[in-house]
Amino acid sequence: MTESGNQLLYADEFTAADQSHLAGLHCGDEVWSMAATEWINGSEALDSIDKFQTKVWIYRNSEEDNSIVGFSSLASTGWQKWPPPDGKRSRLLYIPQLGLDKRYRGFPPDPDWRYSNQIMEHLIGQAKKLALDIRDSKPPSKHVDLLTLKVHRNNLAAQKVYNRFAFELLDGFEDNEHLMMFHKLDLEG
Ligand SMILES: CC(C)(COP(=O)(O)OP(=O)(O)OC[C@H]1O[C@@H](n2cnc3c(N)ncnc32)[C@H](O)[C@@H]1OP(=O)(O)O)[C@@H](O)C(=O)NCCC(=O)NCCS
Repeated sequence: MTESGNQLLYADEFTAADQSHLAGLHCGDEVWSMAATEWINGSEALDSIDKFQTKVWIYRNSEEDNSIVGFSSLASTGWQKWPPPDGKRSRLLYIPQLGLDKRYRGFPPDPDWRYSNQIMEHLIGQAKKLALDIRDSKPPSKHVDLLTLKVHRNNLAAQKVYNRFAFELLDGFEDNEHLMMFHKLDLEG
């Protein structure tokens, strides 16, 4: 790693073979951070890949296997009423879970290289790619242009990061202490 930490992360698609390298990943002690660690370390990530064709990426700051700094994920919903509870039957993209090892929160200090920003840029890029593929290959009723997620109401660090990337809170929605946020994908550029 460079001294400043300013470097590009490597993104790799996560498979079962990577799980042994993730044992040291610890996203933190808050309820939502433990949920993130458990999601990627337990069976949820692999189940989600199997059942919902979720894509999961792990991010490294060098090519060494033990240099994992975090992970992210992307899936598409089945038919869902948007906005809930009575909106139009729609398909949406969503982020099942993401997390950074606690050691790398706020790291590196330079926002141009901040790991949280690199992960979000990669994830939104992948969401755009998926939305464009769906546009090319599926009928209009299945097209998607919203990227959504649920975030714990007290998880202010994550909410700040999502705000930075033009996610908006869905008014009036709360599910088990979680708020819903959405980002309109720019599919024209
Ligand atoms: C969400 C996560 C990836 C963000 O990465 P990060 O490196 O912490 O994010 P950043 O430092 O770039 O930005 C966080 C912002 O929240 C602020 N912040 C951090 N902890 C905070 C707290 N407890 N309360 C209020 N603000 C907080 C930071 O100062 C920073 O503010 P800024 O935008 O003014 O710079 C990381 O915190 C994480 O993995 N958390 C645990 C798992 C998780 O919450 N996953 C998301 C599930 S929806």
